[in-house]
Amino acid sequence: MDFETLAARGGRDVPSASRPLTPPIYQTNVYVFEDMDTVESVWEGKKPGFVYGRYGTANHTMLEDLVAALEGAEAAVACASGMGATTALLFGLLTAGDHIVAARDLYGSTTAFLDDEGRRLGIETVFVDATVPAALLAALRPNTRAVFVESLSNPLLRLVDLEAVAPHLAERGIELIVDSSLASPAVMRPLEHGATIVMHSLTKFISGHGDVTGGMVLGRKATMDRVRAAMIRSGTNLGPFDAWLATRGVRTLCVRVERQSANALALARAREAHPAVKRVYYPGLDSHPQNALARRLMPGPAGAILSVDLKGGTLAVERFMQRSRLMEFAPSFADVATTWTYPARTSHRRVSDETKAEMGIGAGLIRISVGLEKVEDLISDATEALA
Ligand SMILES: Cc1ncc(COP(=O)(O)O)c(C=O)c1O
Repeated sequence: MDFETLAARGGRDVPSASRPLTPPIYQTNVYVFEDMDTVESVWEGKKPGFVYGRYGTANHTMLEDLVAALEGAEAAVACASGMGATTALLFGLLTAGDHIVAARDLYGSTTAFLDDEGRRLGIETVFVDATVPAALLAALRPNTRAVFVESLSNPLLRLVDLEAVAPHLAERGIELIVDSSLASPAVMRPLEHGATIVMHSLTKFISGHGDVTGGMVLGRKATMDRVRAAMIRSGTNLGPFDAWLATRGVRTLCVRVERQSANALALARAREAHPAVKRVYYPGLDSHPQNALARRLMPGPAGAILSVDLKGGTLAVERFMQRSRLMEFAPSFADVATTWTYPARTSHRRVSDETKAEMGIGAGLIRISVGLEKVEDLISDATEALA
């Protein structure tokens, strides 16, 4: 080969009889084909293979198959973010004129997406208190296509009795979509309790190290085929490196979540008794109003997220921010380091004060995502910050 040709084409194929223990990153945005028959059969999904970056690479398939197996789903579609997953899901599933019943305390951007973009596309959403099965079922209409809830709600850690509502929805052919980002499959597997679709922000526990933005939708194969088509057409695809990182995150999901949940329970118990604290919200506490349901849906660890309502309101939150040395303010969750956030100014900033009050999101409410630190250090840091 000439020098230029060699530079452009050489060094690509390394013969090898060995297989790497850790899968490589397929950092390519297109695949090459040797004949038209293979083009045809790979394109049509009759032969395994890959075509183009936006359609997916081996890293996407590895991640999708792995998380699908953990959730007990037939198929999964990896997306660019949690919101990308919601977009692909709604584009794949819904048509103008359809109706959604959604939980009132969904993640703020999900609420905004359903309310703004959904409405403009002719999809109407009604928001209800999904912790009351009768309220959720009473909101169904003949054109309701889906119910959208969170497995553990953000920030008050409320649960939905999936088993109570699922049979009624199944009878009417209505999808039960559960955003399980706050729980992760190591804490709850909603498909085992009657959900038909699960979605995740992979940004959270599944990747777990604060370095990935990604999302995923999981469910029946036929439904996921439609979601995949919508993902490909809307360009809400994940990059291969993020797929690889998220796969690596899954390897330690169980040990991370187990330790984080044990830390969260200990911190929740310690904070419950503190005089500066009005209330602690953690589903693993006996004082959680849905503790029995929590134990049924989450027989193992109860998750790494707790919320604490401080008696001193905004001023107490500001003092906490200045005084905590270990817990950093970061508007996300699920990292290996403990972080906290202030829903009134972050995830729920768009929500009116009236609605926030109705939802129970007060001026003193902070949400803590508990990490892997030694729990005594976390307890003493919180004690000093609350002093
Ligand atoms: C419960 C929940 N769902 C979805 C999302 C959106 O995920 P992403 O930020 O990956 O788009 C978030 C983000 O915080 C979330 O908390």
